[in-house]
Amino acid sequence: MKRDGANISYWQDTSEWCDFKEVVQQNDYDVVIIGAGLTGITTGLMLQKAGKNCLIVEANTFGFGTTSGTSAHLNTVLDTPYCDLIANFGKENAILSANAAKEALKIIFNHVQEFEISCDFAYCDGYMYATNEDEEKELKKIYDAILEVGLKVTYTDDIPGPMDKTKAIKFEEQGRFHPLLYLQALVEEYEKLGGDIRERTTVTEINEENNRQRVTVDNGTNYHADAVVYATHTPPGTHLLTFKLAPYRSYVMGFRLKDDNQYPEDLIYDMQDPFHYFRKATYQNQNILLVGGQDHKTGQHPNPEFNFVILEAFVRKHYAVEEVVYRWSSQYYDSTDGLPYIGYFPGKKSKQQFVATGYSGNGMIFSTLSAKIISDLIVNGSSEYEKLFSPGRIKPIAGFSNFITENFNVAKHLILDRLTIDKIDDLADLAKGEGKIVDYQKHTIGLYKDSEGTLLAVDPVCKHAGCIVQWNNTEKSWDCPCHGARYAPNGDLLTGPATEGLCTYNLDEGDE
Ligand code: FES
Repeated sequence: MKRDGANISYWQDTSEWCDFKEVVQQNDYDVVIIGAGLTGITTGLMLQKAGKNCLIVEANTFGFGTTSGTSAHLNTVLDTPYCDLIANFGKENAILSANAAKEALKIIFNHVQEFEISCDFAYCDGYMYATNEDEEKELKKIYDAILEVGLKVTYTDDIPGPMDKTKAIKFEEQGRFHPLLYLQALVEEYEKLGGDIRERTTVTEINEENNRQRVTVDNGTNYHADAVVYATHTPPGTHLLTFKLAPYRSYVMGFRLKDDNQYPEDLIYDMQDPFHYFRKATYQNQNILLVGGQDHKTGQHPNPEFNFVILEAFVRKHYAVEEVVYRWSSQYYDSTDGLPYIGYFPGKKSKQQFVATGYSGNGMIFSTLSAKIISDLIVNGSSEYEKLFSPGRIKPIAGFSNFITENFNVAKHLILDRLTIDKIDDLADLAKGEGKIVDYQKHTIGLYKDSEGTLLAVDPVCKHAGCIVQWNNTEKSWDCPCHGARYAPNGDLLTGPATEGLCTYNLDEGDE
């Protein structure tokens, strides 16, 4: 099965995927859902269960995006610490967000039980540890806030890993699973309930007509529905949310350990910036240690591949490693105020278009929560979480400084990336496997030479809003530093918010 990067994730390697689906029998639905990751499939399943008739349209294949690249932690202690959520949203809303995360975890557990899904699901504890006085102070704030929102947390001297620590906390009732085995089972249940799916189909246009949505796809077919859900990780195009989301890459490695007793049953986090996360996964009785971290803004690291070197050295300091078996990276989006945007798409004429995005590092929990909120809004017209997660919310204090920082960062890349381009005189100067933005014969070109020596050339101007893309040397992609669009070496679109691929150059003729 395919993913939006060249490295094979552990999840991809341990899943057998069902046949590709593209034929559907009708054009009229209650809901069209765009995107077949965990958000889209769970939303479809919940709506079918509620008696709605859905079509899921996927530009690539199931789980092509972050569902295949996640580390699949199931947390109720979220990436945005509860002390920040209390400060930004008030205690009552911080409690509501903790309850929402608990409900999402319960939904996943209930699906596993109801459909008897064999996906390595386990409830487990979470541990966070400090290594110095500053981290201890921060840990105390985090501990107090977790207590305040009503989750179970204790100080502990005993964490399930060989890390040096000065203090640690333990929070209960977290979880882990295999996201693609879970997704696959949900797809099957969705189809049993009569839901339709079209893979490798791109939505090109959505229009509102007579209070209904007309969804046009790339072969010209029109589908009609009462509602449309954007379950596309980041919604396509330019709109209010574009300026309230920041794209990040995170790196994950899989290790076989020399000592089988060293695999932790629980989830472990350190407090470095960016932090590291540890968990075990098991497939066909073989354990693996998954460790992630080294997060950075998308398209803003000079040598993404080097992150694996640092991560491996970090893990070898703590564990006796037998071998490194997996390494991959994946993308997530931070919102400016610390909570995702889930609900009515802001700025749309009617309340018939829905969006879910900005999950930070809690994609599995928030995608499930999105399915719950959006299906409740469609079926019942309301959700208890509607206001808190509303994509149209305005948090002048909480989000403003992040909003300014992120958009200054975009403006900087829009201008400066054009001024720092290397000039090359001969295309042979590029090594095999290397990608680079260069000035060549008065053109700015994104050049990639594959392992056979074949050169691919693209116009590096991002099709979303005109920033210059950067070469990602580990996932072999062109990544945009502004809003995170990503493209294959030949310019094909991998992920939005752009809606089309990069222009290409024919190097033989020098023509675009
Ligand atoms: Fe917005 Fe590239 S993703 S300019």
